[in-house]
Amino acid sequence: MIINSIISLPGDKSISHRSIMLASIASGVSRITNLNDGEDLQSTIKAMQSCGALIKQDKDLIVVTGSSLASPKEPIDCGNSGTTSRLLTGLLSSQHLSFSLIGDESLSKRPMNRVIKPLKEMGCIIKSNDGLLPLHIDASNSFKGIDYKMPIASAQVKSAILLAGLGAKNPSVVRELKHSRNHSEIMLESMGANIVVDNNNITVNPLSSKLKSFNMDIPADPSSAAFFIALAALLKGSDLTVKNILLNPTRTGFIDVLGKMGVQGLVSNPMTNNGESCGDIQFIGSNIKSCDVPAHMIPSIIDEIPILAVIAAFAKGRTVFHQVEELRFKESDRLDAIIQNLQSFGINAFEEKNNLIVDGGKPKKMAKIISYDDHRIAMAFIILSLVAFKEFDIDNTDCIDISLPGFFDILEEIQR
Ligand code: S3P
Repeated sequence: MIINSIISLPGDKSISHRSIMLASIASGVSRITNLNDGEDLQSTIKAMQSCGALIKQDKDLIVVTGSSLASPKEPIDCGNSGTTSRLLTGLLSSQHLSFSLIGDESLSKRPMNRVIKPLKEMGCIIKSNDGLLPLHIDASNSFKGIDYKMPIASAQVKSAILLAGLGAKNPSVVRELKHSRNHSEIMLESMGANIVVDNNNITVNPLSSKLKSFNMDIPADPSSAAFFIALAALLKGSDLTVKNILLNPTRTGFIDVLGKMGVQGLVSNPMTNNGESCGDIQFIGSNIKSCDVPAHMIPSIIDEIPILAVIAAFAKGRTVFHQVEELRFKESDRLDAIIQNLQSFGINAFEEKNNLIVDGGKPKKMAKIISYDDHRIAMAFIILSLVAFKEFDIDNTDCIDISLPGFFDILEEIQR
């Protein structure tokens, strides 16, 4: 199998969530195209609509008319979406609403104390199920800004605080140890918020007037592209170009690690779109080398580690991903899910002191993929199985709809 293709992909999921949320509280009409078409975005759209947001979908065009939000009557169902749940805690607090958040079985196991703690410190009243969903948040009274040192690298937590800060009495500062994706900062700034980024410290001032509406064609999601890029990278002689992909440096760690492994991405047509860098990128499949992935790179590849571990499985030698403990708190325990699946394909992989170690070579035996109902685990191991055995067997593919419902269509398109 060889790939020779130029593809366009649905929009970045992180930017899509933020565009719907922030357009809903802006002044005027925002027009969004190429929104991510996964189920997580539907969770965000429904959540915002349940608070009175005016969101209309006309084929590929989403029109959001900014309005005043109201406390929802029913609990908001965030489905499987960690980003929806964490960002809403801040966004709806900034609007001084009172609301409850619930989610599916996976989301109901994911830690919420990371957002509860700073928001409580700001003065929001929060009840939870021992740090888990359901959450009940009452932000109807005024609350204060915060000076918060992030204990972990998390764009969701950082964003929750920055968004809440828009409705606080005084400025808030978030201090990051490691840079996490900065789409909230970029979008807030381009919408006219008073936000100042100084190295690792971000200061957000309470809004003195409404945010400005915007028009945006959302660039392709690099986290979705990673699966097809991996396929091309692993199939020597393949040539794949992804058009108009997000190239924000907080998200290009996958491209950097792939470069360390011997496959360089060639960027053309670079441009800026609403403050976000993007462009076309081309990859040529080649031999893969193992490499060492230092801890400081982990936030920039946090969603791509499953597919990078799959690439490492085909490399010569040992690849070490340092300090990947955050993988345990994703849609599944991804550290465990990666190791179990790699082992069942006959690849030596294990965890040692929070590092993920993969001894590359070639998958030795065909195995049934266990998805753990996690979209990125499912897609990553389908790629592994296709490269090694030209077929795959998996317990469930429905979960793929969370971020990329067109996965199989695109796979077919690029193999033609
Ligand atoms: C996201 C942040 C990351 C990432 C998630 C999307 C975001 O989560 O894994 O898929 O849009 O802010 P963490 O903040 O938990 O690292």
